[in-house]
Order: sequence, then structure tokens, then C-alpha cells
Amino acid sequence: MIISKSFSKLTEFWKKLNFLDSTTHYLYRQKRDISIYIVAAIYKHLITKYTLQKYTSNFRSCGAGMILKNFAVIEGCDGSGTTTQAKLLENKLKSKENQKTAGFSAAEPKAKYSLIPYFVTCEPTQGPVGTLIRRILKREIPAEKETLARLFSADRAEHLYGPEGIVTRCNQGELVVSDRYTPSSLVYQGLECGRELPELLNSAFPYPELLVYIDLDSEAAIGRIGKRKEQREIYDHLEFQSRVRSAYLELLPFYEEAGVRVLCLDGTKEPSELALEIWNEVGKMPIMNK
Ligand code: TYD
Repeated sequence: MIISKSFSKLTEFWKKLNFLDSTTHYLYRQKRDISIYIVAAIYKHLITKYTLQKYTSNFRSCGAGMILKNFAVIEGCDGSGTTTQAKLLENKLKSKENQKTAGFSAAEPKAKYSLIPYFVTCEPTQGPVGTLIRRILKREIPAEKETLARLFSADRAEHLYGPEGIVTRCNQGELVVSDRYTPSSLVYQGLECGRELPELLNSAFPYPELLVYIDLDSEAAIGRIGKRKEQREIYDHLEFQSRVRSAYLELLPFYEEAGVRVLCLDGTKEPSELALEIWNEVGKMPIMNK
């Protein structure tokens, strides 16, 4: 209803602008006044830009340059333990420690407990695009580096804005934790295709509220990957992983500057110790203190 009303207003306004445009064009052709033509053209350009921006941000409700509240991501090179930490965090969120009291009063002395709603997820996702990506990473299907960069961002768009997506969940008051997000694309695809393409493909996505980075040197990372029984993926080699680490360290200040809380952890620590550090930081998010 509101959308169709504002759309008809927009169309009306557009017609008026077009009328103004053709009138000024006529005046210009008549050599009456060139300045009014220039002013009207600039005016029309600005209005178009403004309305398009407004429409896009309404549609997305959360996009470029915005921090998505209640959203935390875990990042690091391959083998740094992002998946292990996402699982440990999920266990904590399931446990009693995540229970908050509600309805505690003199009339109702017995505290009622409720869980803070949460959702732990990952990228590449389990969806169709994510599944295709995993097959490419395992070299089962060939793809150009640029194609892969585009697939990662398509998978992310679905992850964010699809049904039951991250944005909907966060806006409804759920804590969402993702094992990898935009920093992975900026780092991995940045190294593969140059910075421009992944920056462009990810520029419309919101920032997380919290970014946990698990730092690990490439030798240790490759050692851990080697112990896994799974099939090796395209990025699992020493030289690439050492570039991944440097790229992460270079990238983190940009997220900090954008207002994201960044927690940098020492990946050589015991998983349980890291899990505690992450839990303490997640505990500082406003959603955990409501
Ligand atoms: P992941 O399943 O997290 O791997 P691991 O559990 O071994 O850390 O991610 C798969 C790979 O995909 C990993 O090498 C990082 C890479 N990746 C990108 O290159 N770009 C991206 O945008 C994402 C999300 C992951």
C-alpha cells in the first residue's frame, strides 16, 4: 500500500520533471536561456540519484556502509579454526550460560528462563550456490577465478536477503554468527583477482557488528590442514595461506574504521581458551544484555 502510493507519487513527480526537461530544452533550442536548461538538468540528475538511493536502501533495509546489529562473524585463514570456534560458540549459546531471567518479581518469585535467540551459519552456505562453490573448491568443476568471486557474492546475497536470511533474523532480534563473510572474499578473491572486483561485488553488503579474527601463521595452518582426512581444496597451500594472513592483517583496520568491533585472537591457543575469549566478547553485544 505504502509502496504503491509512493510509487504513484514518484511517477507523477517524474512526469513533471520530464515536462520541465522538455520545456527547458525547447527554451534552449529557442536560444532564450541556456542557464535554466543547465540548472534543470542538474536538478533532474540529483533527484534521480536521490530517489534511486532511497528506493534501494528501503528495499534492502540494510546495505552498504551500514552495520548490521546482532551480527557477528568469525574469520581466519584455512586451518585457523573458524569452524571449530563457530561450533563451540553455538554450544555456549545452547547452554545454560545463555539463559536470561525473565518475569522475576515479588509476585512471581520463581525466575523463568528464556534463551537468547541465535542462529549459527557459514559461508559458503549449504544452499545451491554454496554447494556449487564447494565443488569448485574441490576441483570437481572448473571455473574462472572471477566466476568464483561472483558466485561467493551471489551466495552471500541469498544468505543475507533470502527467506529466513541473516538480515531478517538480525532485525527480528536474533543473534546471528557466521563462519566467514565479506572479509573472506576481500582477502581470498582479492588475492586471486585483484581488489577491485571483490570490493565491487561486496560493496552493497552490510558490515557485521563484531568481527572475530583468528590469527595463525601459515606453517601451522598448513600443518593442521594436512592432518585432516578431507580432500584438499584449491587454496590449501603454504604460499597462498601466508598471503592470506598478510591480507587479513592489512584489511582489519578498515573494518575498525567503519565502526566494526574487531577482536584479534592468537590461533595457537587451545580451542577452549579461544572459545572463552569469543564468548566474553559476544557477551558485550547489546543483544546479550537486553
Ligand atoms: P571453509 O569451509 O570455511 O573452509 P575451512 O573450514 O577449511 O576454513 O571455507 C572454504 C574455503 O572458501 C576457504 O578456503 C575460504 C574460501 N572462501 C573464499 O575464498 N571466499 C569467500 O568469500 C568465502 C566465504 C570463503
